[in-house]
Amino acid sequence: MAGTGVFAEIFHEEVYKYYADGEWRKSTSGKSVSIINPTTRKVQFKVQACTQEEVNKVMEAAKVAQKAWARTPLWKRAELLHKAAAILKEHKAPIAECLVKEIAKPAKDAVTEVVRSGDLVSYTAEEGVRILGEGKLLVSDSFPGNERNKYCLSSKVPLGVVLAIPPFNYPVNLAVSKIAPALIAGNALVLKPPTQGAVAALHMMHCFHLAGFPKGLISCITGKGSEIGDFLTMHPGVNCISFTGGDTGIAISKKAGMIPLQMELGGKDACIVLEDADLDLVAANIVKGGFSYSGQRCTAVKVVLIMDSVADEVVEKVKSKVAKLTVGPPEDDCDITPVVTESSANFIEGLVMDAKEKGATFCQEYRREGNLIWPLLLDHVRPDMRIAWEEPFGPVLPVIRILSVEEGIHHCNASNFGLQGCVFTRDINKAIMISDAMESGTIQINSAPARGPDHFPFQGLKDSGIGSQGITNSINMMVKVKSIVINLPAPSYSMG
Ligand code: G3H
Repeated sequence: MAGTGVFAEIFHEEVYKYYADGEWRKSTSGKSVSIINPTTRKVQFKVQACTQEEVNKVMEAAKVAQKAWARTPLWKRAELLHKAAAILKEHKAPIAECLVKEIAKPAKDAVTEVVRSGDLVSYTAEEGVRILGEGKLLVSDSFPGNERNKYCLSSKVPLGVVLAIPPFNYPVNLAVSKIAPALIAGNALVLKPPTQGAVAALHMMHCFHLAGFPKGLISCITGKGSEIGDFLTMHPGVNCISFTGGDTGIAISKKAGMIPLQMELGGKDACIVLEDADLDLVAANIVKGGFSYSGQRCTAVKVVLIMDSVADEVVEKVKSKVAKLTVGPPEDDCDITPVVTESSANFIEGLVMDAKEKGATFCQEYRREGNLIWPLLLDHVRPDMRIAWEEPFGPVLPVIRILSVEEGIHHCNASNFGLQGCVFTRDINKAIMISDAMESGTIQINSAPARGPDHFPFQGLKDSGIGSQGITNSINMMVKVKSIVINLPAPSYSMG
């Protein structure tokens, strides 16, 4: 159970502690932040409201610990990460329980998130050992005017302190996708979890603590964004920020200093459907892509752009699948569960009402109880409706009927987002042409968008982000290249 057994030390007098300098602490603020259960809409957990002074101390400790960590052999860093991964998987049940209560993730998906996270940590350890063990040797005579008298040895060195800010929808998985690459590359790590999901993240952090990482190397600060948000992201001790979330990322990128940024900021993933597509496959992927975790995934299908000639048939197939989705509490492992907050539910409702006023066809009756919104397919959506462009982050999916492929590509590319997209057709030549034309970081051919497997590159164009994630890319993003040049007194040619 959450907060008990090996996790008892992270909890005291109804408030979860924060993690600094290798120990669990209560904030000197004496204040806490409440986490509302999306299903009951009552306070479920409380976490410490940390102060700016506590942030300063965490940064100082991180700086000191990082120096020693950078001198720790790569294989030893990997060994500790493997240990943390095993502990994480061993304790999947209490961590999953937090995900169910804090973010209303369906019970089975919550367990999957923790197991996937353990696998991600192990894979990162293995990948790090391989790619960080390799450097480069350059010789000078390949550049015009030079003799072979300089040998350049380049290798990858850590950046320093990495600040990781994951989102509510994957507070464990999108935390470890930042933590593990940072650590294997020799960096220290400061985690600022989202408010909804903070307790799951604290449990996950305790697994790293139990694995025995050095004091101060990793820490987890909880609190109000208004009090410590900007303070953290603008802190001079931070050498890199990896953020996943919404528009806040754009603000962070404007305020952060001259440091590497990795940002994933949402999407309006388009699903283009051609006449020759396997329509059963299309319907299955629209439902899976549009409604899993109630549409609260940045890679969810967020607009269907379908050739008019097959639209009726696909809409009917999707409707019959939507009718079978179970709606209710995450504890019952329902397909559709309450969205994360009341304000999210209100925002989604605003998009639905706008579509209604402007004449969209409702394939189901709009129904909401508290934060629970029943799945809704909106047909005959037009570009003048907000839902055609905005991200509901909820179980509402617009269908726009198109008369040509070009119309679909045009709609996709007119979006300010460009995370993922998908195209359904049996013609691989058309699929490649359309994929190349869509301005998105990844296009899936004949499948719904998805980030995983976690070692695949994952990146957004335009307002969807900066940089590329995926295990290998994240490790490479959290290092810099350092060169040592050997200058010989006279040119030396091998075998010469
Ligand atoms: O919500 C954003 C996540 O990166 C999406 O991950 O495709 O595994 O659901 P997912």
